[in-house]
Amino acid sequence: MPRSISPGRLATLLDDAPRRSPAYREVATALQMLVDDGRVPAGTRLPSERVLAEQLGVSRTTITRAYARLVDAGFATARHGSGTVAALPDAASRDGRGALMPAESTGSADGAIDLTCAVLPPPVQLHAAYEQALSRWSPEMGGSGYYPLGVPALREAIAEDYTRRGLPTHADQVMITSGAIGAHAVAARAHLVPGERLLLDSPVYPNSLASLRAHGLRPVAVPLDDDGWDLDTWASAARAGARAALLLPDFHNPTGLLMSDDERARLSHILRRQRALALVDETLAGTALTGPAADGGMPAPFGAHHHRTVMIGGASKSHWSGLRIGWLRAPAELMGPLVAARTTLDLGSAVLEQLALLELMAHEDEIATTHREAATARRDVLAAELRSHLPSWRFRIPDGGLSLWVELPEPVSTAFVVAAEARRVLLAPGPRFAAESGLERRLRIPFTAPEATLREAVRRMAAAWEALDRRAMPRRDPARPLIA
Ligand SMILES: Cc1ncc(COP(=O)(O)O)c(C=O)c1O
Repeated sequence: MPRSISPGRLATLLDDAPRRSPAYREVATALQMLVDDGRVPAGTRLPSERVLAEQLGVSRTTITRAYARLVDAGFATARHGSGTVAALPDAASRDGRGALMPAESTGSADGAIDLTCAVLPPPVQLHAAYEQALSRWSPEMGGSGYYPLGVPALREAIAEDYTRRGLPTHADQVMITSGAIGAHAVAARAHLVPGERLLLDSPVYPNSLASLRAHGLRPVAVPLDDDGWDLDTWASAARAGARAALLLPDFHNPTGLLMSDDERARLSHILRRQRALALVDETLAGTALTGPAADGGMPAPFGAHHHRTVMIGGASKSHWSGLRIGWLRAPAELMGPLVAARTTLDLGSAVLEQLALLELMAHEDEIATTHREAATARRDVLAAELRSHLPSWRFRIPDGGLSLWVELPEPVSTAFVVAAEARRVLLAPGPRFAAESGLERRLRIPFTAPEATLREAVRRMAAAWEALDRRAMPRRDPARPLIA
């Protein structure tokens, strides 16, 4: 039985789409973008032609022709008795849409420049860290190998790090997880009830949202723009009822914004009134590049302001995503359900990787400096190239994080990404980061690739922008799936 979308919801999504003419083509193009982008997932039964026509206030012929065009382009199927159902032309190769995955992991990079993934290469110390982890043959390597809470020495090191950063922590309050994303799943299972409202920013990191949505939470988005967090809107959204909030205050992905100490205090006050649990994803906390935060002026972790907080971190941005090591830190009274929930998902993370991370943490300063220097240089190259080749694009230079969050002069992000893919640059369009819908004027461009690659990518992007047919149906090359 395919899922369906209500006519009202579809009309709202269509309202956000860019306007083109004639009407049937306009509706078809907007629908295709919604399906292509995962906002109307493949497999969703679309409203009947009559009902959608009434909802949009257009003729039934307009919708009949729009649906026919959608079917022609492979973005829907029409079967007698089951109506029109959204589809992807190359559905088999695009599992996991809505989440963000690097193209190389889906086997689709194909010589293209992949800017879908914001991660730096591993530190040079990685090989030696594994060797040391093996050669030290620690007590952890001789036991059963099951550490559902993590290897004790690593938990201690992470607890010390929180304490040093202003959030006193005991090792018992730390659990090592399978990446930061694993920590989201554990926290949701332990402390959030399916169907509950979850306050969050839009844009947001899509995989965090996907993980919490999978637990049945209902996202309530608070818009986040270049001016930062609108705490009045947060307050009114919280008053309407929320038991939980997802926050990315530390070089928010994708905007790169950093929440100040004062804003953290105010937001925690808002959440405290609702007795809301904060899930704080600080995966990018270690990516300060410039400004006071890079000079040791990083605000205290959100948990220092708000007691009912599960802090979520990981080694992916600070060390290497291939370690697949993340963690969570919670007040002692929240730990019991977290431990119980973890063992329903997996029984622990790989021991050798935890020991390798421990070795890497001994070189923390060196690794952070190398990362900072590389990322700052790449950020500045990307910014300079964009200013020179795409002067109508606007962006602020973030003091941290790993991407520029670009504002396009027109709401054509999805169409542009499809055009850029044809020129062999893979990007994630703005709507991929939208909690609900919109953000067609936005584009995330990571600055993690080498400088020469970024220069070439901008050259190709400029050519794609120049040639972009703003009235055409964006159409994918079915042979080459983009990120999912
Ligand atoms: C905010 C945020 N959280 C989590 C992750 C993924 O973390 P991990 O690789 O540790 O699962 C990312 C990766 O981009 C991220 O940006």
